[in-house]
Amino acid sequence: MQDAAPKPLHLIVACAENRVIGRDGRLPWHIAEDTAFFHAATAGQIVVLGRICYETWPQVRAEGRQPVVISRNPALASAGAHVTPSFSSALALADTLPGKIMVCGGERIYAEALASGRPLRLHLTLIHAEIAGDTFMPEGRHLPWREISRRESADANYRYTFFELSLP
Ligand SMILES: NC(=O)c1ccc[n+]([C@@H]2O[C@H](COP(=O)([O-])OP(=O)(O)OC[C@H]3O[C@@H](n4cnc5c(N)ncnc54)[C@H](OP(=O)(O)O)[C@@H]3O)[C@@H](O)[C@H]2O)c1
Repeated sequence: MQDAAPKPLHLIVACAENRVIGRDGRLPWHIAEDTAFFHAATAGQIVVLGRICYETWPQVRAEGRQPVVISRNPALASAGAHVTPSFSSALALADTLPGKIMVCGGERIYAEALASGRPLRLHLTLIHAEIAGDTFMPEGRHLPWREISRRESADANYRYTFFELSLP
């Protein structure tokens, strides 16, 4: 029997124009529409995320999400949360679970996903501002993305665009 093809990776990220994604272990903004989009897109799916993202998202298991946490600390494992020591082991596990693989960051995990060679879907909320921060989306603008959709929106503080991009 042939092995099943590896699943595509769905990267989901909100990113400022200067590629900032985080500050002091948190999001540097509060955009209610983007939070709602993120929750809806990840509900019922496998969420691959780093230890800091996991620790700051206590409700990750809500709405049927299946967390696969990347950490060197296996003691983080609990009912409903898998812990693996590397991105490759996280993908090997995620391939055995039902649902889409939603890669939720942080920085190193996005970098490994971009370099993985798997088919990619990028769900990008681009916030049209330069925002101070300490965590960044790795540069991926040189990759030959195909645009599937875009939708512009705004709140009282920011203008932003929801992109869905595909590679290949
Ligand atoms: N804007 C967005 O869409 C978005 C998305 C995600 C995150 N963020 C922001 O980014 C920040 C958190 O991201 P972060 O990059 O600092 O941390 P992170 O990836 O959530 O967590 C880092 C930890 O995860 C483990 N880890 C991560 N990558 C690994 C790898 N490739 N191999 C092995 N272990 C790995 C290590 O855990 P151990 O030390 O336990 O071994 C590492 O110390 C926060 O500010 C958050 O709000 C924003």
